[in-house]
Parts: sequence; structure tokens; C-alpha cells
Amino acid sequence: MSVSSRHPITDEEEALFRLLRQIDMASGATQRVIAEALNVSLGRLNAQLKDATAQGFIKVGNSNSSDKRQRYSYELTLKGASEKARLTDTFLARRLAEYNALHAELTGTSSRLVPANHRMQVMQNNLAPIPELYVSYDSAQKMKAEAADLTSHDLTPRQVCDLELLMNGGFNPLKGFLSEDDYNSVVDNMRLADGTLWPMPITLDVSEEFAASLEIGQDIALRDQEGVILGTMTVTDRWTPNKAHEAEKVFGADDDAHPAVNYLHNTAGKVYLGGPVTGIQQPVHYDFRGRRDTPNELRAYFRKLGWRKVVAFQTRNPLHRAHQELTFRAAKESQANLLIHPIVGMTKPGDVDHFTRVRCYEAVLDKYPQSTTTMSLLNLAMRMAGPREAVWHGLIRKNHGCTHFIVGRDHAGPGKNSAGEDFYGPYDAQDLFREHEEEIGIEMVDFKHMVYVQERAQYEPMDEIEDKDDVTILNISGTELRRRLAEGLEIPEWFSFPEVVKELRKTRPPRSQQGFTVFFTGFSGSGKSTIANALMVKLMEMGGRPVTLLDGDIVRKNLSSELGFSKEHRDLNIRRIGYVASEITKNGGIAICAPIAPYATTRRAVREDVEEFGAFIEVHVATSIEECERRDRKGLYKLAREGKIKEFTGISDPYDVPENPELRVETENVEVDNCAHQVILKLESLGLIAAQ
Ligand code: PPS
Repeated sequence: MSVSSRHPITDEEEALFRLLRQIDMASGATQRVIAEALNVSLGRLNAQLKDATAQGFIKVGNSNSSDKRQRYSYELTLKGASEKARLTDTFLARRLAEYNALHAELTGTSSRLVPANHRMQVMQNNLAPIPELYVSYDSAQKMKAEAADLTSHDLTPRQVCDLELLMNGGFNPLKGFLSEDDYNSVVDNMRLADGTLWPMPITLDVSEEFAASLEIGQDIALRDQEGVILGTMTVTDRWTPNKAHEAEKVFGADDDAHPAVNYLHNTAGKVYLGGPVTGIQQPVHYDFRGRRDTPNELRAYFRKLGWRKVVAFQTRNPLHRAHQELTFRAAKESQANLLIHPIVGMTKPGDVDHFTRVRCYEAVLDKYPQSTTTMSLLNLAMRMAGPREAVWHGLIRKNHGCTHFIVGRDHAGPGKNSAGEDFYGPYDAQDLFREHEEEIGIEMVDFKHMVYVQERAQYEPMDEIEDKDDVTILNISGTELRRRLAEGLEIPEWFSFPEVVKELRKTRPPRSQQGFTVFFTGFSGSGKSTIANALMVKLMEMGGRPVTLLDGDIVRKNLSSELGFSKEHRDLNIRRIGYVASEITKNGGIAICAPIAPYATTRRAVREDVEEFGAFIEVHVATSIEECERRDRKGLYKLAREGKIKEFTGISDPYDVPENPELRVETENVEVDNCAHQVILKLESLGLIAAQ
């Protein structure tokens, strides 16, 4: 809330403030002394004292003094002290607003002065409740009914995560999606317009059409993907952001290799809306309900257990032994209890899914002392913004009642940029955090890279090993772990717990047990279907995984019977095939597709759909158009030449020759069996079929 929007101060408030301040400064003073100090008559003072006593702000002190004049001395009650503090803040805020306005008028620039909230920190420690944006249950019921008339925005999965943390206080002090001023200031200076530290733009991105349909000042309903209303927002701001600038400033580079930059350019809407949010209800989670806590629930839990110091461990990976050692050391160093606080909202694409991870966490939780460690799941949508993200994570953990926060090597790192270099240095996050530590209000527990020292059979931070040359230092990177899982290789006990490895192997079986898709593409009559059929039979002979053939003709009969051969219809047809293939792949089966699929962009889209779950092997059946026309098994080429079939691929319609297929097979003078065998050999070399 901007300081100028607070209500003006009345004369009574001013008089009350002066009285409370005077009594606070010199409790035990006689009425006469107080009257003189305030420059009021004794009669007026008497009336004021009566009033303040009636309101519970002051009381007659326990003076033991024999001096009669001091018997009726006053002192502040707890309520009075807090009222005085509140009034002081109001005064300061007003003065500051006046000063800032004058500064702006005289210089045309912002004074950058911000209210110092010291008093808030003294009064509100990490265990006191923090503000939420939810209305009461009764109001929520009323608002739900009224919201039926409001224009609705269907939130994206990322926006649902953001909204949840806005509403439950996880993003305190934000009161809604950022306004344009706040956004610009956050992007350029890591601060809200009033100067408060906030490193991440929390914006409501929408389409141009939706934005244009709204009026400024209008309330909109914010709904999840099932249409359930979660909150409302008063639209105070609408603007088209400079996304390249946002990418440069917030993520350090306008490079699509960064997942959040890719999201910004290719997923997020073109226009941003800003405004305060009113919370109606929390998003519903059906999984791990007992492990999800709002900031106030965690604070209450810490309060109940008497945990004054809590160190939070943020993670988006399964817990291995190095992590356990790091968390043990952090708890010991800060003499705090431990909160394992994994992200279950959105993490880096390609990460182990949160269902598997939570099962892994639960499997190792009993390796921690139960009385000092707990785990809670955080529905945050990460941005992988390294240093800025670390500061953001710190603020979020402070809101969740933590006093310490672990920042390790390459915190929230997005990986390599398009030139193959790291986006951020390994300790950039720690440096930025350190710079702002006091303002964040949570202490950083920093760690260097943890490695295993074989001779001592324990994990140690790399920078603390003094005899590096005399010992054997072991480590397994994330990439190496994925390779070992994919190939079914051993994962040593010094690296991870058997329970964790077991869970990971369930989700990531070796490639030879995973589903995959073989995608044939080529002209009509090139031999796709024949080779695909032969391949299917060979795979079925091997057994082990179900095989489904999605041949062009069959699909057009069963899935796409209403479609023709325009570009739009062909794309739709191929996307449907891709969808079915990705589902088969996800469920551990083998999908063999054999459509013409003439467009490279559509084939790429299908590849992306499938690769989310398993391998995609593109096979170009490279029979020339002349040979296909010569064969003309179905007589279609003749009809196409005569103009009786329109938009015929290779004759009157384009075909993009695949540039980098996994395999290209020539069919002229090569037997079908041999062509299919070439595919089998390829699958074997990729580890997709292994010796039985
Ligand atoms: S596409 O482009 O991938 O959607 O095509 P597809 O689903 O594989 O269907 C191709 C089969 O439809 C017959 N057919 C045509 N092909 C290409 N162009 C036109 N205009 C056309 N009209 C009908 C043809 O028999 C194709 O079968 P295949 O199995 O490829 O020989």
C-alpha cells in the first residue's frame, strides 16, 4: 500500500499521540508536569487522561512514592504502547509522503526514501501471524455468488501458483498482481515503487483480446482451470511490457535457452494486468494434502512446538546423501530446527516430477531427528532466476516463519545459455543474498559444493577440504545420475539412499523398459506402412511392451474421418497422432506412426509432445516422388496428375524433407525386411531395446 493512501490524521489523533508519547517518555510524572510539557491547561489534560484511560491506553501507575503529588501518575498499557506505535507510523508515513511529493515537484525525480519498518519487526517476530488476502468464510460465500456476473479470467498453471502465494501471505507484502509502476521498479531496481525489496515480477499476463475487453477499475473473477473461483482482482493497470527488457534485467539475458525467458516469450500473454486481489478460497490440491501448509499454518506449528529458530532448505530435486549432510550441518551451524521445504509447483522442465520426489522425501524423512525436523510442500512456480530467485526464496521463507535459509552452489540455476555457458556464476546467488540479507530479514546459511571424501567416508564442503591432493573426492552430477538411471547402471550407496534410488527407478526405468515412438514420414506410396507393419511384427516377436500402429490410412478412418488435406487439416491430423503417441509413450508402450506428415514444424511439435515422456525416433522413408509415382499402388498419382485429387503431396502440395531424422531409409532396391531391420538396429543403438 502506498503511504499516501493512508487516511489523514485527525486533531484528536494528534492530541492522543502527544499525550501517549509524553507519558511514555516520563511515566510517573505529575499531571502538572505533563500539562506543562503539552502546553495545555490542567482541566483539558484531565479530560484527555480520562478519555485515554477509558479507551484502555493508559492506567494509573503503581507508585509507591510517599510524595502525594506523584500518587496519580500514569503509565502506558500494552494497548496504549501499540496505539502510540501505530500513530507514529501514520505520522511518519504522512511526513514522508509530503517530503517525497515535494522532492518530486522540485527535482522531477523520486527521493527514494522509504518508510523504515523497524517497529513492525520488533513487534512481529517470525512466529506472529502475517496478513493474508482472504476474506471471511461468510463473505467468500457471498462473493462467490456475486462473481457469477463478473468477467472471468482462467488462470494458467503458473498464475494459480502465484495467486495461492499472494493470497496466503507467501508473497507478503504484495497485495495483488503488480501494478505497472511496481513492475517497472521491480524489473529495473528489484524493488517495489515504494522502495520495498522485491526481486520477481509477479504479473497477470493475458491475451490482447481479453485485455482490450476490460475497463480500468473493473473487478474480474480469477478462476482455476476447472472454472472454480479462487479470488477477484480490481484491474487498476493494463500495459504491454517490453519483454526483452524484462528478460535482460530479471534473468540476465534475452535468451530462450532460459526456461523463464522461453516462457515469457512463448507462453505468457502479451499484455499484463495489475491490481489488488481479494482471496476467496485456496486452490484445491488432491495430492499430499497433509503436507501442504500456508505461511500462517507453519508459523502456528513452529509456535506450538516452541521452535524459535528454523532453517529452511529449498529443493526441487530428490534428496541424496549430500543434501542430507548439508541440511544437518546447516541446522547445527545455525542451532536451528530444520524445515525441508521442497517446491511442488513448477520447477525446471525435465525435473523429476513432484509425486516421485515427495515419495523420495518421505522415504528419507525418518533419517532426520523427528523432534527437530519437519517437511512442508511449497506450491511455488519457480523461475530459475539464480541470484534474484535466491532473494525471492529468502523473502518467501521469512514469510513462512523461518529465521535462516540455506543457499548452496548455483541456487535455482537454469543451466546453460544458447552459447553453452552458464547463465550465472555458481556463487552469484549467495553474493546477491548477502548484499540484501538484512533487508530480507532472514539469515543466509551458505554452502560451497558438497563432495564425498572416500578416505573419510563422509561429505564435506569442497572449500573446507585442506588435503585435496591426498584424498579421493567423489561426486555424481545430475546428468550422470540421469544417465545411470536411463541405462540401469549402479547408483552407489555413498551417493544416495537405497529407498530413494528405488523410487527413482520406478519412475525412470532404464530406456529398454521405457515407452517410445517411431515416427515414419514420406510420400504416399513410399513404403511407410509396409515397413511400419514389418517393424511392428518384429517388436511384437520380442515382446515386453505393447505396440500400437498408427498408420496414415487407419488414423484417417478412425480418428480424423472428418478431415481433408488442407494444411490446417493435415496439421490437426498429425497433432492428433502425436497426442495419442505421447500417451502411449507415457504409459510405457511403443507407438509406431506412419503418416505423410509433410510439414517440418508440425513434426517438431509432435517430437516435443512425445519427448516429454520418452524417445522420439523420426524415420524418413526417402523414396523419391518419381519412384512413388511409378509404383502408384493406389492409382492416386494418376488422379492427382489429372487434377482429380487436389493438394496431393509431392504433386500439387509441398513436402519438407526432414533435415536431421534419426534414420533415413532408402527403399529402392532394398527389401522391406531389411528396412525394418535398420530401424531395429537404430533402436538398439539408442538403448531402447536391450538383450533379453
Ligand atoms: S497427412 O498429410 O500426413 O495428414 O496425410 P495422411 O494422413 O498420412 O494421409 C495420407 C493418405 O491419404 C491418401 N490421400 C492423400 N495423400 C496426400 N495428399 C492428398 N491430397 C491425398 N488424398 C488422399 C493417400 O492414400 C495417403 O496414404 P499413404 O498411406 O501415405 O499412401
